[in-house]
Amino acid sequence: MKHSDYPPLILSIDTSCDETSGAITLGRVILANVVASQIQIHKKYGGVFPTLAKRAHQKNIEPVVNSCLKKARIKPNQLDAIAVTQGPGLAPALEVGIKYAINLAEKWDKPLIAINHIEAHALSTLVKRNSRQYKTKKMLTIKKNKKRQKELKSNDFPNWRTNFTNQELPALALVVSGGHSEFILIKKIGDYSILGQTIDDAAGEALDKVGRMLNLGYPAGPVVEKVAKNGNEKQFKFPLPMTTKKNFNLSYSGLKTSAHRLIKRLEEENKINQHTIFDLAASFQYAVFRHIGYKLDKLLQHFDDQNEMIDQLWLGGGVASNIALRKHLRQILKKYHIKLNVPFAKHLCGDNAAMIGIAASFHYQKNNFVQ
Ligand code: KG4
Ligand code: ZN
Repeated sequence: MKHSDYPPLILSIDTSCDETSGAITLGRVILANVVASQIQIHKKYGGVFPTLAKRAHQKNIEPVVNSCLKKARIKPNQLDAIAVTQGPGLAPALEVGIKYAINLAEKWDKPLIAINHIEAHALSTLVKRNSRQYKTKKMLTIKKNKKRQKELKSNDFPNWRTNFTNQELPALALVVSGGHSEFILIKKIGDYSILGQTIDDAAGEALDKVGRMLNLGYPAGPVVEKVAKNGNEKQFKFPLPMTTKKNFNLSYSGLKTSAHRLIKRLEEENKINQHTIFDLAASFQYAVFRHIGYKLDKLLQHFDDQNEMIDQLWLGGGVASNIALRKHLRQILKKYHIKLNVPFAKHLCGDNAAMIGIAASFHYQKNNFVQ
């Protein structure tokens, strides 16, 4: 019996930015996902303060790990591996998770898997809710006692190995977060090409910065989404960036400068009030998403020209939880008969360790361990 015959039980850790997260996953199924947010700490600085982030991760990591083991009712000796985000992210923050994971792997004598944070966001739509469909308890018992493997029925744990059909792969992933905005072609799990990415700020970063100019707090992205609902997205016109460039890269610095100038002018003219803030949020959010939509459309046209067939867009990253973005993308995808896949819950769009566990389960099957 090969170790890869069963879905791996993995403890994952992510400390890439301002959230300490731990998760227990069995194959693609979440058994526990715990996130300790530092938003309250960084709020007063309007952004992540690295030394404070490091200190908070150091304080939170042990309780987070213990809490997810407890929630999943898992003992360390049952685990198949430990996985940790190795980057990209904030170096002092990443370091806390990496050191902790190395120590655990040594202490519990488990293989260690290093995961790229963007790969995990790109695969986050594959995370499955623990439902009755999965005979989780039975699977854990059989993993402990291999003699009982005959009891396992083929549909006890469907699709854990993700037997992707030709319909699902290749897929296009779009990762839009506070640090990244990327179009990634997923030929197979583990075989990726970056087709376009931001050349300056990320989409979430642009929303956060402009939201901050409007005093919408930190992180401003979700607040921009909320207040934009009361505003008119056509009220203020922003340029569409990078239209003369034939590539699929994104750029937000020009949009950010336009917003800054506009807000300054409105301030000078004493025109900033609740109403203009709503309109500015709606118009800027629209500009950010229109730019993504424009480049996505160009990319899909290019796929058509090249006879490259894809059926699905996998959307991940904090900004992926935005309903206006999903709507905007669906409109474009409709033309190409492409389906939008999003993580099954909004909290799986933002940083979380469950997505690290799912990416790690694929690496586990390929024996991609840290030596
Ligand atoms: O994926 P994530 O949690 O962390 C990074 O890897 O960066 O993404 C955080 C980003 C922040 O910029 C935040 O403002 C943005 O995602 N965000 C949103 C929404 N929720 C989070 N942006 C727009 N609409 C939202 N609902
Ligand atoms: Zn992230």
